[in-house]
Amino acid sequence: MKVYLTRRMTFNAAHKLWVKQWSEEKNLEVFGKCANKNWHGHNYVLYVTVKGKPDPFTGFVMDAKVLKDIIKREITEILDHSNLNLDVPFIPENMQPTTENLTIIIWQRLVSHIRGCELHCIKLHETENIYAEYYGE
Ligand code: NI
Repeated sequence: MKVYLTRRMTFNAAHKLWVKQWSEEKNLEVFGKCANKNWHGHNYVLYVTVKGKPDPFTGFVMDAKVLKDIIKREITEILDHSNLNLDVPFIPENMQPTTENLTIIIWQRLVSHIRGCELHCIKLHETENIYAEYYGE
């Protein structure tokens, strides 16, 4: 039996999507406004879902406060008000800071800290209408 528990967190960050080898024209064609030379920001909404069996004593899959503290320490405190291209040591220099890639990076940073249950999904909204999900596959 598995129950899924999700913690929602928010952060604001700047980025630029750009391929050095391409012309400005091609970058704008592929990435649109996300290729703006002087950066731009997004209000990201992050959903971290863990799965497991509720503990017979607490009824918790995982203590939601502990989950919040891990996400805060490992992810949101570092990404909030950052420039995702320049400021974040765990985002490789050659990786586009797209919503898709961020879900992988966030998973990799969180997975070893989740104990007593399993990490199930990282879902990240870049806007209200666009989000990416990663299930560790
Ligand atoms: Ni963007």
